[in-house]
Amino acid sequence: MSDASYLSLQKLTLAYGDTVAVPDLDLDIAKGELIALLGPSGCGKTTTMRAVAGLLPVKSGHVRLDGADITHVSPNKRAVGLVFQSYALFPHLSVYENVAFGLKLKGLRGAELDKKVRSGLTSVGLSTFADRKPAELSGGQQQRVALARSMVMEPKVLLLDEPLSNLDARLRLEMRTELQRVQKETGVTMIFVTHDQAEALALADRIVVMKAGKIEQIGSPEDIYNRPVSSFVADFVGFENIFPLENGRLRTASGLEELSSQPPSAAGLAWRPRMVSLGTGPFRGTVRGTSFAGDSREYLLDTPLGAIKAEVEASAPAHPLGAELAFDLPAHKAAPLSTFS
Ligand SMILES: Nc1ncnc2c1ncn2[C@@H]1O[C@H](COP(=O)(O)OP(=O)(O)OP(=O)(O)O)[C@@H](O)[C@H]1O
Ligand SMILES: [Mg+2]
Repeated sequence: MSDASYLSLQKLTLAYGDTVAVPDLDLDIAKGELIALLGPSGCGKTTTMRAVAGLLPVKSGHVRLDGADITHVSPNKRAVGLVFQSYALFPHLSVYENVAFGLKLKGLRGAELDKKVRSGLTSVGLSTFADRKPAELSGGQQQRVALARSMVMEPKVLLLDEPLSNLDARLRLEMRTELQRVQKETGVTMIFVTHDQAEALALADRIVVMKAGKIEQIGSPEDIYNRPVSSFVADFVGFENIFPLENGRLRTASGLEELSSQPPSAAGLAWRPRMVSLGTGPFRGTVRGTSFAGDSREYLLDTPLGAIKAEVEASAPAHPLGAELAFDLPAHKAAPLSTFS
């Protein structure tokens, strides 16, 4: 095992009956890394997590952790912790008893047990809530109990499957920070499943983007945000203007269009709304929609190329619905895509 492959998924094929959900997945995760698994509903994120946790038998391939093949090791012997979207706390047990539960199963008692539970509760900021029942806690607090309950088991890998999706925006942000802190403090390796790209960008060391059971791109948040490799990833991370390239020309609704400057060689080009230049350029469009977003304004343009979304500073003069505007898709600003699907 090298440091870069502390957790290693090797040619992992996962299926429900005869239906393969994840074919031939290869993924190496370094010790202490925080990986975000990002992708649309049904792409295989939970399925992959369940296989790592040992809750789903593997059809073929291997799961290796810390130098050992754990493909057929039972879930409770894997040193893999799991926190799901629904916190699944025991409602009749206190916060303290919930956190102590797994440790007791391991045979811990007395002062040693108490010390671990107290320190687990302290690490998630809930030391004064030990005697409460889950129903007497907010959603965020319940999620923190679930996190403490997993962390006290000192897992080698902690899997979090959309743990924040039940929380409101403010709590999500708080929990995000909390997770990052716990991860930095304990150095635990984490895989974090989300379909929220902002969350993945904010949290992860590396992001794995999945599509239909396969990995579409792995990279740093900067890579994924600025250098999507495919139209699928570009679309997923907010590039709204995406076109195939053919012989250096853009394939659009009205046929092949010449750009104002030489594009790079690529299968396609993608522009975020704010990469579109509004006011000058070789193309024309009619304002069909406009929305104000505080410090910026977004325009939806009807154009011969198809619909174009452009974003400008809110301080720029506003254009009314129906206005005709010139615009440009500057080739040098576009993200070049190596695959177009
Ligand atoms: N118990 C099951 N039996 C049969 N098929 C299943 C089962 N669970 C999931 N699937 C299928 O496997 C595929 C992957 O599902 P999975 O739950 O891994 O998706 P996901 O990426 O976690 O999606 P979401 O973001 O909606 O949670 C989907 O096509 C899904 O319908
Ligand atoms: Mg899921």
